[in-house]
Amino acid sequence: MYEFNWEGKELAYKLAQTPSIGTLRPDKESSKNWDDTENLYIEGDNLEVLKLLQKSYFGKVKMIYIDPPYNTGKDFVYHDNFRDNIANYKEITNQTTRANPETNGRYHTDWLNMMYPRLKLARNLLREDGVIFISIDDNENSNLRKICDEVFGESNYVQEIIWQKKFSPQNDAKYFSLNHENIYCYAKSKDLFSRNLLPMTDEQKSRYKNLDNDSRGPWTSGDISVSRVTEKDIYGIKTPSGREIYPPNGRSWRVSEEKLNDLIKDNRIWFGENGDNVPRIKRFLSEVQNGIVPISLWYHEEVGHTQSAAQNLKKLFNDKALFDYPKPVELIKKELLLATDKNDIVLDFFSGASTTAHAVMQLNMEDIGKRKFIMVQLPELTYEKSDAYKSGYKNICEIGKERIRRAGDKIVSENKDKEGIENLDIGFKVFKLDCNKGDSKMYNEKLMNSITIEILTDKKPKELKGKKKIATINKDIDYKVQVFIDDDYNLYYQDNHAFASCESKIVHNKVETSWNSCKCWFKIIGLYECKNAHIVDILRDLDSYSEHLYPKNNVADNMALSRLYEHMVKVYLNFIS
Ligand SMILES: C[S@@+](CC[C@H](N)C(=O)[O-])C[C@H]1O[C@@H](n2cnc3c(N)ncnc32)[C@H](O)[C@@H]1O
Repeated sequence: MYEFNWEGKELAYKLAQTPSIGTLRPDKESSKNWDDTENLYIEGDNLEVLKLLQKSYFGKVKMIYIDPPYNTGKDFVYHDNFRDNIANYKEITNQTTRANPETNGRYHTDWLNMMYPRLKLARNLLREDGVIFISIDDNENSNLRKICDEVFGESNYVQEIIWQKKFSPQNDAKYFSLNHENIYCYAKSKDLFSRNLLPMTDEQKSRYKNLDNDSRGPWTSGDISVSRVTEKDIYGIKTPSGREIYPPNGRSWRVSEEKLNDLIKDNRIWFGENGDNVPRIKRFLSEVQNGIVPISLWYHEEVGHTQSAAQNLKKLFNDKALFDYPKPVELIKKELLLATDKNDIVLDFFSGASTTAHAVMQLNMEDIGKRKFIMVQLPELTYEKSDAYKSGYKNICEIGKERIRRAGDKIVSENKDKEGIENLDIGFKVFKLDCNKGDSKMYNEKLMNSITIEILTDKKPKELKGKKKIATINKDIDYKVQVFIDDDYNLYYQDNHAFASCESKIVHNKVETSWNSCKCWFKIIGLYECKNAHIVDILRDLDSYSEHLYPKNNVADNMALSRLYEHMVKVYLNFIS
């Protein structure tokens, strides 16, 4: 079987599985319309935030758009830290940005390790009929496609869209002037996703004219020959001027002679103003379907280009360029038109200057929709010499939030006469990622003391008959835990500290034990298969210890408990085949 692998993939996979130790703290002060809004702006590393969103937004998001760092060698690629991502997050967001230089030997793997767990978590948030659009350029294009095939499934690939991001050629390009970027679209389940048709643009509508004052209204005309040779459909058509016209060589007419005569009678064939041209069929604006089928090439005239996006953002900020390379609002609006209905939830977890939020508000204004957005953005520091920094925007979240405030106000003021505009949701609630104060020390200690054990068996759990000793954790001479597993995935522990042996069973992520009324004493934080290995991640569940085993007034036991804190263990049971 074909598998896409890179160094660190397993760890990245585990990272997606480990519960977040962070929490989201509300920040009413920098929010807008806190009491009424349903939109969210979350400041923080998106890996932790995506984990925290799982509880409330699992299977609820209709569309995700992301525009991650492209790994150009100059852009910022966040490095997760498996041991303590929150401390790492705090450290990183207090430093000036760090790029991922191409000279770094881990250049591509760094990027893949960053993207992989995030895409996995993002997929969980999608509704069954939801989709994700991902912008990318040539640096990681092929890698992105491969991880998306793995995370979403090859069969859920919907389309690669080519966006014309530049119109003028770059004449000093070494090989080609790169004028496009890619946008990949994957569905959670392609069978359940149905895309909307696109409304016709004014430019498209203007192609429909009424040259003969037809009572059915404006029309455009199309070729009536097709590239096949069907003897019966090759016949002469008489023009009003008296010419007889045959289909070109190698082609036939699209319809039979009889059908064509009906069309002529119904004034649906156009021979040109002088009645002497090659016949064409009339297509009436009033009869085209409710919209247009999207094509995979998105031209700048319709969805904007990099420069227009930068200019528009600059205008919003009194002519100050605060953010490099925002996407055009029209580009994301087109994705929203294709993939969302009026009440859907839209997520962007690399939200930068909040273009997605702007596009959501814009479209809601146009179609009186109630789509809600969730923006996630790292408080990445701005450079001290940048216009952003000098204008008081010390990190990108400050820019992102202000963009939403200004864009919302502008949309409302420019459309103040539109019916229902007063109901447009231009607010947002701000939340900031923070440590879960009560637990952070405990969790950090747990992770600090984690150890990895390779299992002393060449069998997989299913093949094990009865109990089998699979590991001995021997952190110091007088503390020992032995771990057993049987063929139903029951785990058994025995430690020589304060307990006798005790039988346990994995139930909903916890190890339940029947010993001494203790309901759980180990937490399973991951139980999965990876290649040929079965891995069980276990954390001692101290809450259960204190609740069930150690009455508060039992001094001796409390001493034992504090000792156990020191010996917190995380166990990876790697079955080596
Ligand atoms: C290419 S920009 C997105 C631009 C956006 N589409 C727009 O139109 O403004 C990518 C953004 O992702 C942010 N980012 C990078 N790593 C992140 C992480 N781990 N969590 C959240 N945001 C991150 C960067 O700070 C940057 O602002």
